[in-house]
Amino acid sequence: MATATNLPASPSLSRVHGDVPVHGGGPLVSRLLEGAAADDLLASARGLPRIALDARTAADAELIATGGLSPLTGFMGRDDYRASVHDRRLASGTLFPIPVTLTAPRSELAGVAEGKRAALVHEGEIVGVIDVSSVFEVDRDAEASEVYRTKDAAHPGVAWLFSHKDEVGVGGAITLARRTVPRAFPAHTRDPAEVRALIRERGWRTTVAFQTRNPIHRAHEYLLRCALETVDGLVVHPLVGETKSDDVPAAVRVRCYEAILDGYFPPSRTLLTVFPFAMRYAGPREALLHAIARQNYGFSHFIVGRDHAGVGNYYGTYDAQLAFDELSPGDLAITPVKFEHSFYCKGCGQVASPKTCPHEAGERLTLSGTRVREILASGEPLPAEYTRPEVSRILIEAYRAKESS
Ligand code: ADX
Repeated sequence: MATATNLPASPSLSRVHGDVPVHGGGPLVSRLLEGAAADDLLASARGLPRIALDARTAADAELIATGGLSPLTGFMGRDDYRASVHDRRLASGTLFPIPVTLTAPRSELAGVAEGKRAALVHEGEIVGVIDVSSVFEVDRDAEASEVYRTKDAAHPGVAWLFSHKDEVGVGGAITLARRTVPRAFPAHTRDPAEVRALIRERGWRTTVAFQTRNPIHRAHEYLLRCALETVDGLVVHPLVGETKSDDVPAAVRVRCYEAILDGYFPPSRTLLTVFPFAMRYAGPREALLHAIARQNYGFSHFIVGRDHAGVGNYYGTYDAQLAFDELSPGDLAITPVKFEHSFYCKGCGQVASPKTCPHEAGERLTLSGTRVREILASGEPLPAEYTRPEVSRILIEAYRAKESS
């Protein structure tokens, strides 16, 4: 596991060696103990007041502990929370556009107080501790309007926020003694330090990452191919934490990613590794957070296409790209690679975008999610211009299995 001592001494030095600086300029955060140290921590935590982690906060905890959310060393306290909601930054000024909070009903927080330690419990077991720096009121109205730009309960991120409305925030540095995310995809699971090491081993000076919560269709593949033409390596980095119920489950998607990478990309130039984080669907703010995490994994470039991390019509098609334009120099070390809305065009005979295609809308194939589900339900393959046959087969099979269960 990475520690401050085995990481480059300074961002400028690390640049020389090809490593991308950790967000915030410090070392990659490392707060996951192993062996005897882990056993000692668990033993010492037995008598402490307990705070429960659900699937989402458990994923956040492991990502914090393994450095993916550096410079966060724990769940946000009052000052960072406020600064994140209102200014998209930590109290220190470092860009951090979405609050990462642990909340609990006040009635369950007996003995939890500033300056004290509490045990973190997941699925009935103690997994680590939090050194509490603040217990604070969460301003959900402000969080909804500022972070999600809406208070509409139909927005999945807002719905999640208000479903915890009687809970208060508990901030503080965490230390884990156990991992909190099940290894659903062992072959594709790597901590940020491991990904950084692999990039170094492969000698990639530049690496582009692709965030996705969908199967890879031809338009996605076009982005991947175009982006890889300009850098040394491509990392397909699908989000596999909680998503909304009508998104394709991660286990099905991972089979699709394997099929695309195995069949259509050179293995020496690509890597599939998962991103264990819950979708917030916060559009522009989430695009920035996705980029921060990917910088921490050591990627130099990050794909941002149409309506990145969006849902419904809450965000403009290119708002996520604009969010990067509004940053100050030095806010991020990762570079966004922006793509316009891509589609298969009959006139071009290939996937293109408004930037590269001169044809009329009628020549362009776009399928809504509803239409895709209708085709899958009929058992017919999706059009080859829309999806590779391997992906189509995996999706039809998954659709049938779901219908018969
Ligand atoms: S997201 O929630 O992870 O953004 P999705 O998996 O659909 O959803 O998208 C992954 C990435 O591909 C995002 O950067 C998104 O903007 C981009 N993208 C998806 N579809 C298209 C498309 N047809 N044209 C251009 N970019 C796209």
